[in-house]
Amino acid sequence: MTNIQQEGRNAVEQNIISRRSIKKFKKDPVETEELIELLNVAKWAPNHKLTEPWRFKLYVDGGKEEFVQAYIDSQPKVEGEVAEKVEKKAQYFRDIPVHLVVIMPEDPRQRRWDEDYGAVSTFIQNFQLAAWERGIGMIWRSNDWVYDPVFREGIGVQQGEKVVATLMIGYAEHVPAARPRTDIRELLTIIDE
Ligand SMILES: Cc1cc2nc3c(=O)[nH]c(=O)nc-3n(C[C@H](O)[C@H](O)[C@H](O)COP(=O)(O)O)c2cc1C
Repeated sequence: MTNIQQEGRNAVEQNIISRRSIKKFKKDPVETEELIELLNVAKWAPNHKLTEPWRFKLYVDGGKEEFVQAYIDSQPKVEGEVAEKVEKKAQYFRDIPVHLVVIMPEDPRQRRWDEDYGAVSTFIQNFQLAAWERGIGMIWRSNDWVYDPVFREGIGVQQGEKVVATLMIGYAEHVPAARPRTDIRELLTIIDE
């Protein structure tokens, strides 16, 4: 974990600041029960009207092939370099210990849709932080192909549902250095009279 801006920080602040999106994972498996426990922590996210607008698909072991195949099927059927790129990526996905797909209902009412999306996003960040505290890393990915009907059908996403995230999860092989963030003072307007 990176140590930027860590001095004088409490444990929660340190956890928030040090979490990084992980792309390189060890092969070590992550216990499914532990992930369920973490999801049960994450569900304490703020959620207006307590709609609990989430469901999940957790891919582990041989089950990952459903996810990987749905990805492959959603890609253009071509030969050569593009096909090689798809296969390389598919193998990268196979090698990652866990995939979690986070799905929300798309409420036709704009306000409820926004509230639900906000709740799911806070759920995901809760999950990332709670996992990070235990040394489990992940990356939230929003690839183009999660909107593809072939991918959606391949993993059983229904009409009226949205894939909010695919999370790739495991123990970090490499923790990237943090990239700088803008000082909030530059973005803050204080109105005090
Ligand atoms: C909604 C959302 C979608 C993201 N999609 C991707 C993605 O498709 N590919 C990717 O490499 N990272 C993705 N990320 C991760 C960000 O790139 C990452 O959070 C950012 O680079 C900052 O790095 P950090 O999380 O280590 O601080 C996504 C993050 C969010 C919140």
